Amino acid sequence: MSINKLDDLRQRKAKILAGGGAKRIDKQHDAGKLTARERLDLLFDEGTFVELDAYVKHRCTNFGMEKVDAPAEGVVIGYGKVDGRLVYAYSQDFTVVGGSLGEMHAAKICKAMDNAMKVGAPIVGLNDSGGARIQEAVDALSGYGKIFYKNTLASGVIPQITAIMGPCAGGAVYSPALTDFIFMVDKTSQMFITGPQVIKTVTGEEVTAEALGGAMTHNSVSGVAQFIANNDEDCILEIRRLLSFLPSNNMETAPVYGCDHDVNEIVESLNDLMPDNPNKPYDMFDIIKAVVDNGDYLEYQPYFAKNIITCFARINGQSVGIIANQPKFLAGCLDVSASDKSARFIRTCDAFNIPLLNIIDVPGFLPGTEQEYGGIIRHGAKMLYAYSEATVPKVSLIVRKAYGGSYLAMCSKDLGADLVLAWPTAEIAVMGPQGAANIIFRGEIKEAKDPVATRARVIQEYTDEFATPYKAAERGFVDDVIEPSASRPRLADAFDMLASKRETRPAKKHGNIPL
Ligand code: HXC
Repeated sequence: MSINKLDDLRQRKAKILAGGGAKRIDKQHDAGKLTARERLDLLFDEGTFVELDAYVKHRCTNFGMEKVDAPAEGVVIGYGKVDGRLVYAYSQDFTVVGGSLGEMHAAKICKAMDNAMKVGAPIVGLNDSGGARIQEAVDALSGYGKIFYKNTLASGVIPQITAIMGPCAGGAVYSPALTDFIFMVDKTSQMFITGPQVIKTVTGEEVTAEALGGAMTHNSVSGVAQFIANNDEDCILEIRRLLSFLPSNNMETAPVYGCDHDVNEIVESLNDLMPDNPNKPYDMFDIIKAVVDNGDYLEYQPYFAKNIITCFARINGQSVGIIANQPKFLAGCLDVSASDKSARFIRTCDAFNIPLLNIIDVPGFLPGTEQEYGGIIRHGAKMLYAYSEATVPKVSLIVRKAYGGSYLAMCSKDLGADLVLAWPTAEIAVMGPQGAANIIFRGEIKEAKDPVATRARVIQEYTDEFATPYKAAERGFVDDVIEPSASRPRLADAFDMLASKRETRPAKKHGNIPL
């Protein structure tokens, strides 16, 4: 080969690698952001990233675009290894035409998605873009449409992870919303359908971009995002961590990591964890940390609907998805947001063959007009649906309250729990003793000479009779009542026993989950 051709290749490559040039890269760094390529370097194991389509060019000739050279078309795509496993990625380059998305930019993203689907590898999208490339008009819109379509086809087949690492406006937010997980970087990322200026024009409302669509807004208020990171580096390391809990596709199970934490460990402190007063809160994380490997977990939506905890962890090296009521918030009641959060998490785990562990201490659905008008019936039904539909191993551990509809909604035997364990402190009944006394003993209390004493007596009777796990165990709704200290070994054993579980559902086009 002539030296000229090699030189030509090297020069072309160097120009592409320089992105939007030193000035724009400095501006990116000054904004506290890494470049598209720096992000990919962090995401992939060293030296494993292989770039595709670096030479792709746009075909737009509107508004002077024919003179605009857009290296790599403003998006870097390719594949590499994360912890030794194949992953596809695309990373938008804000230094090139603001990372805006036109026809060929979208075609590159679609190619990455198609390839990932073909080989059954997760796809990670690092978004940093001014949205639809304005000069490309309907071609840009079509590009988004194609991505939405492929996001939907890939849903439930390969894990799709999105990080928002800059602005993300207009329809551009919908590709992320169609993926399984959204990370946002605090202070440098925003998502909104219509920005502050449009809002001011249309409604007169004044709001900053950060308050409207910043990372904390979407992590704590809207529930659009599941994870928040302090900076780009933190974000990408968390994406790597999340990938470690996930299989590469829906035909595989998550990788099993060596476990140096004794699975037979008896944790004596759990025997004393439950407060004597049934209305006294405690921290559900104390139970989670005691039963999972090395007390390590990755929380999903930690700032949204804190009354329910959803997290990934490992037991004996195997990934599990944990759904647990948090008595510290709203007494652990289920509400609209908790239902949405957990139903989505359950379906994500089920789609990717991650067994479910439900740790239950739930007094009921949150009462009130706000909840009823907000559609708690429709939202709560998502939990019932998601648990019933899930065919992965489902293990429930009832540690305290499990009342009424919320007992069912947290994956009772009848919703397909494969194994239900209970602590002796479990209370499984239609409702709590106070509420029950007000209804079924109302007459007796009213007619009694000493209503206060009678009320106290019937509450005690009800408590002794029903606020225990033994009535449910008599019917086989609870498989075993265990000592709290033995929770870790019993759960490890349960998941080991269920590892070969196979369950099918009636053939259908698709179910119709209440939305
Ligand atoms: C073309 C764009 C662009 C876009 C930014 N640029 N957005 N070019 N189309 N959508 C270019 C700028 O002209 C500029 O070019 C460079 O990118 C960097 O942009 P700046 O404005 O200098 O950066 P900054 O001050 O950080 O502001 C970033 C921004 C702003 C907030 C994203 O650029 C902006 O508001 N852009 C428009 C956002 C928008 O309305 N997008 C359309 C959304 S609607 P030079 O050459 O000067 O460096 C949508 C519909 C999708 O996406 C529908 C799908 C169904």
